[in-house]
Amino acid sequence: MKRIGVVTSGGDAPGMNAAIRAVTRIAYSKDCRVFGFERGWEGLIMNTFRQLTPRSVGGIIQLGGTILHTSRCQEFETKKGLKKAAETISSNNIDGLVVIGGNGSFKGACELGKNTEALIVGVPASIDNDVFGTDETIGFDTAANTAVAEIDKIRDTAISHERIFIIEVMGRTRGFLASTVGLTVGAEVILVPEVKYDTAKIVKRLEENSAKGKKSGIIVAAEGIGDTRKLGAEIEKDTRTEVRLSVLGYAQRGGSPTARSRLLASLFADKAVELLSQEKDNNIVGLQNGKIGTLDLKKSCETEKPIDLSLLDLANVLST
Ligand code: F6P
Repeated sequence: MKRIGVVTSGGDAPGMNAAIRAVTRIAYSKDCRVFGFERGWEGLIMNTFRQLTPRSVGGIIQLGGTILHTSRCQEFETKKGLKKAAETISSNNIDGLVVIGGNGSFKGACELGKNTEALIVGVPASIDNDVFGTDETIGFDTAANTAVAEIDKIRDTAISHERIFIIEVMGRTRGFLASTVGLTVGAEVILVPEVKYDTAKIVKRLEENSAKGKKSGIIVAAEGIGDTRKLGAEIEKDTRTEVRLSVLGYAQRGGSPTARSRLLASLFADKAVELLSQEKDNNIVGLQNGKIGTLDLKKSCETEKPIDLSLLDLANVLST
């Protein structure tokens, strides 16, 4: 293992830079050279990369986003795109590729693995935390803390005006971010795509709270549940209480990574380079019951990560 490629792909996540830094410095400590492909899979298709050195990755551990840039690359989903990416890998004598991204990127990596001799390892980074094979992805903790900080502020105005707020958080089709954020802000209601919601039940809960003297409320809804504006209008009509919608949006994807996101990035990178130096192919690294472990890349792509619904039950009790 002498020449390692690194790519950040799909939606960016805070801590990707910390992972790029760690991969580079650990690889150099093992006498390898590192090449950063730019703008996600597009860099592999277009053969655009830059050499990364221990010095060039200085001063980035605290930065959100990714210095390599990223993209959602449709050409990579075609046979032609995959072939071009594989040619870039072989023409640059890349022995191993570290793919930093979420499960969409890992599906791409799986396909690429069928077209190249280079070893591939996935480093899970996504604010959605929806990668099977890791309890947590790089960036999830930062996004959750960003959302919590915003919702704490919204709680103040909700109490002052005795209003109900629906706060929409990201997560694509999954509710990992919503359930963690909902529980940790003390939301009265948490809505995740994994559980079909019943408007009448939400209204009943809010009315019970109101009867107990709790005149405001926070509903944390995952973006994947559907039309939160329509839901807000229905709740407003049925409870006869003002409802406001706040979509937190892309702020959740940015910002300086928390210590936890940086730590995961560093530990994952260490394991990823170790796997490559041991010539192990097509794996992901992950946090598994408190330890850094590995899993077959294909298995990770093909398996849906289960959500812990007991968090919702606990949140329900805690927010009475
Ligand atoms: O996967 C991360 C994520 O932020 C999701 O939570 C969200 O649904 C999606 O990316 C948005 O993607 P894009 O920035 O490509 O519109």
